[in-house]
Amino acid sequence: MSRSIALRDVSKRYGRGSLAVERVSLTVEPGEFLVLLGPSGCGKSTVLRMIAGLEEITEGALYLDGEYANHVPPSERDIAMVFQSFALYPNMTGRANIGFPLKLRDPRGDHEPQVEATARMLGIEDLLDRFPGQLSGGERQRVAMGRAISRQPSVFLMDEPLSSLDSKLRTHLRAEIARLTAELGVTTVYVTHDQSEAMSLGHRVAVMRGGVLQQVSSPRDTYALPANVFVAAFIGTPRISLLQAVVHAPLGAGMWIDLGRHRLALPQPLSPDHQLLRIQQGRPVIVGLRSEAVRIAPPSQARPGEVAMTGIVEHVEYQGHEALVHVDTGSRPAVVADLESARQPAARPGRSLRRQQSGLGRLKARAVERLSGSVAVLDAPPESPQGPDAGVASERLGAVRSDLVVRTGPHVRVRVGAQIPLLVDLAQLYVFDHAGQRVSPAGDGLAPLER
Ligand SMILES: Nc1ncnc2c1ncn2[C@@H]1O[C@H](COP(=O)(O)OP(=O)(O)O)[C@@H](O)[C@H]1O
Ligand SMILES: [Mg+2]
Repeated sequence: MSRSIALRDVSKRYGRGSLAVERVSLTVEPGEFLVLLGPSGCGKSTVLRMIAGLEEITEGALYLDGEYANHVPPSERDIAMVFQSFALYPNMTGRANIGFPLKLRDPRGDHEPQVEATARMLGIEDLLDRFPGQLSGGERQRVAMGRAISRQPSVFLMDEPLSSLDSKLRTHLRAEIARLTAELGVTTVYVTHDQSEAMSLGHRVAVMRGGVLQQVSSPRDTYALPANVFVAAFIGTPRISLLQAVVHAPLGAGMWIDLGRHRLALPQPLSPDHQLLRIQQGRPVIVGLRSEAVRIAPPSQARPGEVAMTGIVEHVEYQGHEALVHVDTGSRPAVVADLESARQPAARPGRSLRRQQSGLGRLKARAVERLSGSVAVLDAPPESPQGPDAGVASERLGAVRSDLVVRTGPHVRVRVGAQIPLLVDLAQLYVFDHAGQRVSPAGDGLAPLER
């Protein structure tokens, strides 16, 4: 039996600190595999622990199968948790570890068949009589998983269960977790900071930043229709290139996006997505280009919907099956706040912007930021380094100043320092407003966040 989990405006404050989780609303359907994804410190574990009943809910409501459950003791929630650190009893065999929850529930019963069945499901029949000290990391994690599933809970909560394993094992166990949870049909909430893990496992992915839910959608929509620049930059390798730009749409004179050195003229008649850009006329925006949206080719080879630009090759990264060409197109990259860690202070606005903004302008900017949860920092060149190392640091910063990454076949032949022709596929162009919210493409299919 699996059940639904619903959070309604759930917030968490530890002591007198700021909110670790802020008004999260989220429904996990029975049997669904939902992944909570975000950088370290964004509140993922806190959400999970509130569902488990290990952490008190400061504000808001938790429903298990539609029933208000804020104060239901953890032991009565029928939830099993798997953590990153395998909490196995070192002086018990695998068999005893897996059977332990069953024994707790029914001390006299014969649990051997259940333990054996669980072990078969996990392919660890041969390891049952070993102690944790005699098992490898992956084997220990499988026994821990066995202990979690042996008593057939109705909800699984997994908190970065694979993050201490090496990458090959991680990929392998990831597939097993997907198979196992599908087989059991148990509602699962899985926490990770690894976007590729999230994309490969989740029926839906819930992206968090600084305690706030940004987007809940299928892996496909999370990649194709990111709600804002934070989600766009967090999902996908290599990271999406984000460039500062200005939209120009003079009456009767077409529309183009000014990237500084280059202009991207939008083809006429404007597509419905490009028409959405009209209201951004004259305003700073952020253009997002994934590495597959640009190719290296001369203007003469442009297909309909492609526009030409050029760039200087800064660096080539060979990946075996492909190569990533880092290019400097002369645009200014946009900075995304909180990308690596939610508690990292946002980059400060550059001096020029600070001077331009009057007191009122600053107030307005702050109000906009609070309303829309600004995730982008425009006009923020790297702070000029100070102190004795300043020269070295600025040289290092200046070493690779690519603003665009282009994905190509592995046999590409380009020379670092050379100028190369590029074709941008405008159908794959993202435009975000100055606060970082997606403007185009519209993506009508994307369900709004629950309120
Ligand atoms: N027991 C605690 N006491 C005080 N602050 C905490 C506690 N646990 C977590 N926090 C804080 O709450 C925020 C979210 O933490 P956490 O939920 O562990 O994030 P994540 O799992 O996404 O890395 C962080 O700023 C963290 O420092
Ligand atoms: Mg955590």
